[in-house]
Amino acid sequence: MSGNSILNCAKYSSKNTDEWYTTYETIAEEIKYYTKQFFGKAVLCNCDDPFESNFCYYFLKNFNKLRLKKLVCTSYAGSKIDQIKNDRQVPLKMFLNTGEPVTVGRGYVLTITEIPGRIGKEVDDLTIKKILSKKGVVKKLIGNGDFRSEECVKYLKECDICCTNPPFSLFVDLFSLLVKYNKLYLLIGNQNAITYKEIFPYIKENKAWVGYKFGDMAFRVPADTEPRNTRFWVDEAGQKWRSLGNAMWLTNIDIKRKYQKLELTKYYNPEVYPKFDNFEGINVKKVADIPVDYDGIMGVPITYIKYHNSSQFEIIGEANHGSDNEFDLFKPKVNGRELFKRILIRRKGK
Ligand SMILES: C[S@@+](CC[C@H](N)C(=O)[O-])C[C@H]1O[C@@H](n2cnc3c(N)ncnc32)[C@H](O)[C@@H]1O
Repeated sequence: MSGNSILNCAKYSSKNTDEWYTTYETIAEEIKYYTKQFFGKAVLCNCDDPFESNFCYYFLKNFNKLRLKKLVCTSYAGSKIDQIKNDRQVPLKMFLNTGEPVTVGRGYVLTITEIPGRIGKEVDDLTIKKILSKKGVVKKLIGNGDFRSEECVKYLKECDICCTNPPFSLFVDLFSLLVKYNKLYLLIGNQNAITYKEIFPYIKENKAWVGYKFGDMAFRVPADTEPRNTRFWVDEAGQKWRSLGNAMWLTNIDIKRKYQKLELTKYYNPEVYPKFDNFEGINVKKVADIPVDYDGIMGVPITYIKYHNSSQFEIIGEANHGSDNEFDLFKPKVNGRELFKRILIRRKGK
């Protein structure tokens, strides 16, 4: 199988990353850029076990600081429970207010509309622990907590911002639901998703963009995760970890990054920038090599997306397989050699 075919097979079926759990630090490091946009909002974390997810913990801890209106976290019956160590200082007992243990095979929902403490300040861990064991705060869902289920879509319709790391295999499903209901979102995903036919048109039209962190991310993984030679380790506490080199945040929340100009220093030279064999445009190997003075179409690496400013460059399409969607214009080749997928851009304001 060629590299591209292998990628294709893996495209929507990366089940192995479905149980990768986000650290508190990853979430805090990104959300610090969006604090104004969270003010007064109802937040939904819909792939998030209230007892274990750091998304849930982050929004509980920062509920008063971000001045949230509401927090709803729903979890999925198939999630691995009690295998992941989260970042909380106070260990949580996995029991509902009724005394029933929190078990695998059930969906749960946490709903919060206020938290004691000072507005503008973080909530302490003891208060969070008390909240989670308070009667009626965490309830069993009727169904299995699939975010596509009727009861979970109802929560989605009621929220302003959905913020989570969904199973990668269902990334497109969640994205499509959020678009359908016209919601704001901030989602962790794999950079490959940028060129998917369901997502790329939104990137191209400047209706979705990537956030700040774009690259390496470490995730806690369940105890039964198979060891491997790369991007896997076990910490002193025995917690297993994996990392992803091409992780990203995908969002439609306005951020300053979108308006920063990419500073470029190179000039066009036909010997350095070969034309594609099968398309009128030049290949640019690295983002830093984008020539300041080329007026035609340029094929640039996918990492360009991290710097995209729609007033500086226009996204024309992508060059992936040449058939993925109406904007996938050709399979990139230079001098007979196939290249990894490219984003096609053109300078604005010539
Ligand atoms: C990549 S993990 C991330 C968990 C958590 N959001 C975090 O960032 O730590 C995705 C989670 O979604 C759960 N999940 C799987 N299928 C789901 C579905 N159809 N609906 C909701 N959650 C699902 C998985 O069991 C897992 O707990």
